[in-house]
Amino acid sequence: MRLVEELMRAQADEHHPELRAALHHLLGAGGKRIRPTLVLLVGNMLGADPNKLITLAAAVELLHTATLVHDDLIDGALLRRGNPTLNARWTPAATVLTGDFVFARAAKLAAETDCLPLMRLFAETLAIIVNGELTQLFTSRGIASRENYNQRIYAKTASLFEMSARAAAMISPVDEASIEALRNYGYQVGMAFQIVDDILDFTGEQAEVGKPVGSDLLHGLITLPTLHYIENHPSDPDVSLLLNGNYSLEKERMFRLVQSIRQSEAISQSLSEAGKYVDEALGTLADMPAGIEKQSLEDLARYIVDRRL
Ligand code: IPE
Ligand code: IPE
Ligand code: MG
Ligand code: MG
Repeated sequence: MRLVEELMRAQADEHHPELRAALHHLLGAGGKRIRPTLVLLVGNMLGADPNKLITLAAAVELLHTATLVHDDLIDGALLRRGNPTLNARWTPAATVLTGDFVFARAAKLAAETDCLPLMRLFAETLAIIVNGELTQLFTSRGIASRENYNQRIYAKTASLFEMSARAAAMISPVDEASIEALRNYGYQVGMAFQIVDDILDFTGEQAEVGKPVGSDLLHGLITLPTLHYIENHPSDPDVSLLLNGNYSLEKERMFRLVQSIRQSEAISQSLSEAGKYVDEALGTLADMPAGIEKQSLEDLARYIVDRRL
């Protein structure tokens, strides 16, 4: 991980000093580094070349970082990883360009693994993420459907987890069945991760989570806890307000709905759904070589539902 950090930081060397400062600001704020950890664990478990793994891990984390730079601009979010976002300090123009630069560096690193199918997967994953964000932007306000929710969390989060595990397997000396098993591990962990992220939006503390909480529903975004709450309390008048698309007119009632959901059984129901994905993820590892990496991948899957951040 130390080498991954160094490689990421070196990406803005010999470029505009503001860009360099911005990249260091972004990386210096921390972040859990779950995706590169996933890459390293999978690749080490399967015997990949360490240099390629480090390069892939840096590519994946930079892709993630770039999506966050643009996402925070789009969402008007001022806090990330406990620090002010780039858009909190800079113009949209400078923020967009910095995000573009980080995307470009991520792609360059991905190409340095010398694996054409990996490069294709990398580009396809970015397209899935962007398509998901666009769908959310144009259509999903007030939509209460499981199918819509599952598609959304796959696009914005699980797709990148899936790619991380799959790509690490692709550059390892293993057969198609192992690559598929690890793709599935990444998918399951990614779905669980986003469900927990959506739960933390209700139950988390801003100081711990490092970004504003309680905001999904206030922006008309229906996530799993809300879906459960709607199923359990279809005649709650605040639910009707939400489903009618009038949520933005009555902020007070939306705050009240957030409180109701936070205190309801919808939270534990959502958590148990995340737990099912984690169980699936653990199952995909059954045939993997035993050792510290496999153990850590199991721990990582379990950590997803225990985390407070
Ligand atoms: C945040 O991802 C964006 C989502 C997909 C939920 P993380 O929760 O992994 O963010 P960092 O990298 O740890 O800050
Ligand atoms: C996460 O989306 C960003 C992407 C994966 C593109 P959100 O807007 O839902 O997540 P947070 O709450 O800002 O981390
Ligand atoms: Mg956001
Ligand atoms: Mg967003």
